[in-house]
Amino acid sequence: MRGVAACSPMDPNEELLQSLRASVGPGHVLTDADVRATYETDWTRRWHGDALAVVRPASADEVIAVLVTCAAAGAAVIAQGGNTGLVGGSVPRGVAAGPQVVLSTLRLRDLEPVDAIAGEVTVGSGVTLAALQAHVRASGFDFGVDLGARDSATVGGMIATNAGGIHVLRHGPMRAQLLGLEAVLADGSVVRRLPGMVKDNTGYHFPSLLAGSEGTLAVITRAHLHLVASKPRRAVALLGMAQVAEAVALAGDLRRSMPELAAAELFFDEGMELVLRHAHVDRPFGGRHPAYLLLEADGETDPTDLLADAITQANGVTDAVVAGDEAGRARLWALRERHTEAIGAEGVAHKLDVAVPVSRLAEFVARVRRDVEGASPGSATYLYGHVCEGNLHVGIIGPAPDDEAVDDAVLRLTVELGGSVSAEHGIGAAKVGWLEADRGVADVAAMRAIKRALDPNWMLNPGVLLREGG
Ligand code: FAD
Ligand code: MLT
Ligand code: ZN
Repeated sequence: MRGVAACSPMDPNEELLQSLRASVGPGHVLTDADVRATYETDWTRRWHGDALAVVRPASADEVIAVLVTCAAAGAAVIAQGGNTGLVGGSVPRGVAAGPQVVLSTLRLRDLEPVDAIAGEVTVGSGVTLAALQAHVRASGFDFGVDLGARDSATVGGMIATNAGGIHVLRHGPMRAQLLGLEAVLADGSVVRRLPGMVKDNTGYHFPSLLAGSEGTLAVITRAHLHLVASKPRRAVALLGMAQVAEAVALAGDLRRSMPELAAAELFFDEGMELVLRHAHVDRPFGGRHPAYLLLEADGETDPTDLLADAITQANGVTDAVVAGDEAGRARLWALRERHTEAIGAEGVAHKLDVAVPVSRLAEFVARVRRDVEGASPGSATYLYGHVCEGNLHVGIIGPAPDDEAVDDAVLRLTVELGGSVSAEHGIGAAKVGWLEADRGVADVAAMRAIKRALDPNWMLNPGVLLREGG
């Protein structure tokens, strides 16, 4: 007797892929290993994981479909914008039991017209910072946050990491620019406060909650942003200084006395020499200096003389150069902004991003080099950052990527000095083990309660920010 041929069940991963193709269109479910590769490794090359697929939704409805599909299949979802994050939060890490899907937001790139009366704009979360800047500058505004990864970093990624950057001293971080947003929760429901208003005390403020949530609570699809007045005239000065404490004091003085001060960045001799080697930019001074302070001023009128006068009267300045023209300013900024890529060119760096009380910054600089040398003799340490917030980046070349001794040494010192283990890049996968030492047991328990309420199956970015379970 002939049997009836049994219908073989479809492979669950293939079933998931079919549903994802139905959700966003077959051309936007990327499964080819070579195509997936750039989405699977982070900017630092320290974190990597295999994704079943990269999906590229083009609307909030498509994001909902992707999340509902992944929830049904038990797949983890890693939201990804420009993949410029530096803490391993934007790529799969293999911690999830089931398949991992990267949800790329790069097609969510609507730019709505600027509301010139309010000085506000609504944009898609996949819009890059550079595109946002160009859009709002065409209407005579500027955006309050700026950072070196502007050509790739997206609005959604910047909200999810609460990005800081070079203008925090004047405008605050990303959270301070965010008036409203639209975001899709793990179960496919949508929280939406658009446009959102400055004066809005109507219940819990989801924009504040999702700023800094690192893709663990929701996928942000649109944001309504506060804009700042454009200041058309700029000048940049680079100062060579012998003492870190004097550089810190000068930045603090100028912040109080010179409202035109827009940026104050600190870096050091090792970093300057590294950038000069890698980036082929001109040496700004005849000689070398232990520390460098880069200052930017802006205004309606040319602030070059103002900046030059302030520097002339300052203590501890051993050399100075001031640039008012665009090319000269860009040359000076390159010396600071190209630290990240110059360090990356040396190898896979251990990158820490800490803040300490400004009054303890000089002490941190002196001690961190000793502590790193103790943890990993012979390694190279590069320090640079945003001086007014006590925020220094510590880039270390030498130890193997999975040897965390230097990371622990830097973060131990930071906590001892009363600082933050994550000033602007987030906790990511890199610093999960340090969250409780910094925030305390009760804070982390409250964070877990929020996570469990909004994402009970731990589907969104597992392994980032919080350890699963508990
Ligand atoms: P991604 O790297 O793609 O993702 C970062 C995190 O956000 C991940 O956890 C991801 O899951 C989550 N995420 C992304 N999009 C969404 C979304 N739509 N919804 C929910 N979660 C999402 N950072 C600073 O703060 N200040 C600086 O000065 C600075 N300078 C940098 C300079 C360079 C050269 C580089 C490479 C990086 C720099 N960064 C800086 C770090 C990085 O640019 C920021 O963290 C940025 O905010 C990341 O944006 P992204 O779109 O690349 O996000
Ligand atoms: C910066 O300020 O340059 C960054 O935040 C990036 C880095 O830490 O390298
Ligand atoms: Zn920074």
